[in-house]
Amino acid sequence: MPGGAIAVASDHAGFDLKELLKRDLQDAGHTVLDLGTHSTQSVDYADYGAAMGEAIASGKAERGVLVCGTGIGISIAANRNPAVRAALVHDETTARLTRLHNDANVVAFGQRVIGIETARAALKVFLSTEFEGGRHAARVAKLSKGPVK
Ligand code: RB5
Repeated sequence: MPGGAIAVASDHAGFDLKELLKRDLQDAGHTVLDLGTHSTQSVDYADYGAAMGEAIASGKAERGVLVCGTGIGISIAANRNPAVRAALVHDETTARLTRLHNDANVVAFGQRVIGIETARAALKVFLSTEFEGGRHAARVAKLSKGPVK
């Protein structure tokens, strides 16, 4: 995958895991753009998913990491932006497969439902797995075109 900036974003329920993954990314030498939130004070996941969408669409970040309580709300919010292919990932297998098959550019985790070490390992796999292309390329292209008429 490309080596541009990686944006991270979470709501209050994903703040601790977002901070931990951010440090892992920085320790690994990545440029990290932190879109917030910056504390465990209650906020709305929709705002942080939308901020991720803008960061990806504008090119400020090439890839992204999202965290909320389940990973669901914040990934739905990010996926409203057509530049985003956010995948809710539960383990190393789903992290690998969403890169191979979906060319996902954003990974989402649920802090309340995933183990910390599983999330850390899944993020490493997500970042190191290349898109397989081939039969998956046309399918991924259709995601940007909308339904077949
Ligand atoms: C916040 O309580 C929680 O609803 C949110 O983090 C997320 O899990 C929503 O999908």
